[in-house]
Amino acid sequence: MQRFSKRTSWDVGESSFAAAVRGARATATAGGRELIDLTISNPTVCGFEYDVAAVVGGLGDAQGLVYDPDPRGMRSAREAVAGYYADHGAEGLGPESVVLTTSTSEGYGYLFRLLCDAGDEVLVAEPSYPLFDFLADLEDVRLRSYPLFYDYGWWIDFAELERRIGPRTRAIVVVHPNNPTGHATRSAERLRLEEICLRHGLALIVDEVFLDYSLVEGGAGLQSFAAGPHPVHTFVLSGMSKIAGLPQMKLGWVGVLGPEGVRQEALGRLEVIADTFLSMSAPVQLALPGWLAGRQGIQQQVLHRVRGNLSAAHASGLEVLEVEAGWCAIVRLRQRGAVGELAVEVLRQAGVVVHPGAFYGLEQGGWVVVSLIGPAAEFAEGVRRLSEWNG
Ligand SMILES: Cc1ncc(COP(=O)(O)O)c(C=O)c1O
Repeated sequence: MQRFSKRTSWDVGESSFAAAVRGARATATAGGRELIDLTISNPTVCGFEYDVAAVVGGLGDAQGLVYDPDPRGMRSAREAVAGYYADHGAEGLGPESVVLTTSTSEGYGYLFRLLCDAGDEVLVAEPSYPLFDFLADLEDVRLRSYPLFYDYGWWIDFAELERRIGPRTRAIVVVHPNNPTGHATRSAERLRLEEICLRHGLALIVDEVFLDYSLVEGGAGLQSFAAGPHPVHTFVLSGMSKIAGLPQMKLGWVGVLGPEGVRQEALGRLEVIADTFLSMSAPVQLALPGWLAGRQGIQQQVLHRVRGNLSAAHASGLEVLEVEAGWCAIVRLRQRGAVGELAVEVLRQAGVVVHPGAFYGLEQGGWVVVSLIGPAAEFAEGVRRLSEWNG
């Protein structure tokens, strides 16, 4: 009989929530009315106006006919990424410190391979983005969570984080700003994280895919971990999915910072990992400088939509936890039936799809997550129904 690896022996059975959503989507109705989906987080289906000529035209460069791979990615593309960081006040991240990947997710995979042997551990915030579990499983890395807590804003529980560091811990992952909490790491928290990493010999992996989506009106924007001094080995991850609203183009990167010796060593090793796959496509790399240059066009539309939808959520009377940045919000509903069944009840009774909080590791009853980038009219109707259902 064929044997499969243990690392792929996931329970892929459909949850009651997924089954209910599938059924509702098939008929586009739930609870006797038209279905409203508040989980749409794919920017390419939200009605944003892309500059089609610029996005698609960028792929037409005739140089893309030539195969001449550089394991770290094309120099011109890496220069554009360095330019993005220079725009964020991080001149120290030059093109020689960038490794291109097909996505941020692939970037995580590279870093887990770089830093961890089988069974080594990486610390990840809870709540956060659920994809980490699979990424870690595929690299035989064990994830340990460290808690964030909510007290007029989200905070890292540093005492608990330190308690969870063990002999096999290799890195701390920070999502800045975090998904789904919208919590941006404060500078005092950054210093504390760096101090902890230094003391325990850990790397800091910082996922900044939502960096450009600060919701603080008139604020200076969020500071990248690529800026400032780097006393510890630091990796910044980002990519086109969120920066330019182009997840289908499959382009991300890892920026490598930190003390010079270890930085060079890491870059050399990452180059070998990347060379093993050479996964970057030439046309996409040639198009990257244009996409990055045009990012404001899509970012302004997304920010406008997110702000408008957030206002609609507040106006509906729902209890919405404070969001500093990003594309989603956590809403607290009245827990009525069994914990874990809330999102199914909301679907069946209000005809609205929301993400169960547990999906992101939000274990408190009554918390659900909504995406803020969906079309405004649909979003307003969705939160109105939620509020009505909530009573
Ligand atoms: C925090 C975070 N990191 C990474 C990703 C994945 O990005 P990519 O499409 O570049 O793999 C997502 C996608 O939603 C995300 O929310």
